[in-house]
Amino acid sequence: MNGTFQRHRRLRSSAGMRNLVRETHLHVEDFIYPLFVVEGSGVKEEVSSMPGVYNLSLDYLKEEIDEVVQLGIQSVILFGIPAHKDPIGTEAYATEGIVQQATRKIKEWAPQLIVVADTCLCEFTDHGHCGVISHGDVLNDPSLELLVKTAVSQAQAGADIIAPSNMMDGFVAAIRVGLDEAGFEHIPIMSYAVKYASKFYGPFRDAANSAPSFGDRKTYQMDPANRREALREAASDIAEGADFLMVKPALAYMDIIRDVRDRFDVPLVAYNVSGEYAMIKAAAQNGWIDEKGITMELLVGLKRAGADLIITYSAKDAARWLKELD
Ligand code: PBG
Repeated sequence: MNGTFQRHRRLRSSAGMRNLVRETHLHVEDFIYPLFVVEGSGVKEEVSSMPGVYNLSLDYLKEEIDEVVQLGIQSVILFGIPAHKDPIGTEAYATEGIVQQATRKIKEWAPQLIVVADTCLCEFTDHGHCGVISHGDVLNDPSLELLVKTAVSQAQAGADIIAPSNMMDGFVAAIRVGLDEAGFEHIPIMSYAVKYASKFYGPFRDAANSAPSFGDRKTYQMDPANRREALREAASDIAEGADFLMVKPALAYMDIIRDVRDRFDVPLVAYNVSGEYAMIKAAAQNGWIDEKGITMELLVGLKRAGADLIITYSAKDAARWLKELD
């Protein structure tokens, strides 16, 4: 041949050659593993739409934490399901709230494990909305006060990172001021800056029993059709003091992950959400797909798209698979 075409296959000729030129790598440090904690004892209940994911009471949480640490996972994000819900989500900011209790326990068992606290009200309100309701509307500024109380109580319990997910305007600014005033100026905020009103959250809402009892979240979460709006959301959260930005969901929003990565320099988190996990598990259980291959391809795809960190229910599986590859 006279060299009129490129021989791209030269760099794909063997496993060693492919390893040498690989551009993106997954590491166990990239993962943040979600945990659902419940009150009571002796509870280890699998979420029906999320095989392998459990609602755990604190006594069962210990073995889960041991496993997470043993697998080399460095970070978990906590979601709480309280025994009692009310209109103003009191259990979200109670000193003995389930997230606060779980945080204290985890920091006692595994002080080096980074505990991210999801700061929202929807798991704690009886109407399932992420803020205070009046005449069928979610009120912005009164909700902020409760979110600040929640964030401060989570920090008091020992949370290493506060992750507000409620999409009220000004939530980062309010929480930053609240944390600083309470002496937690060293605690970073991981903002769910770009969170879409998505059907992919369905299985999570089963797990947390947090589906809104009326209406939907479209007045606060974003329209899936919008791309420029994502940059406005991210810019305002950076201006308000966010230390991390998040895009959620992940798979249908890889363009957004790339846009945010290109525009902002803070660490970027992709949330590989419950519906994304459920689809893979369901297809795998039917024997229709290669679960391991597809999961790893999706995770590396999220990093290639620009994510530094991935919140994923697949973290434990992926950590095991990464060890096999070593
Ligand atoms: C709380 C919250 C939700 C998720 C994370 N934090 C649910 C929602 O907004 O309805 C969803 C996560 C997932 O689907 O895995 N607001």
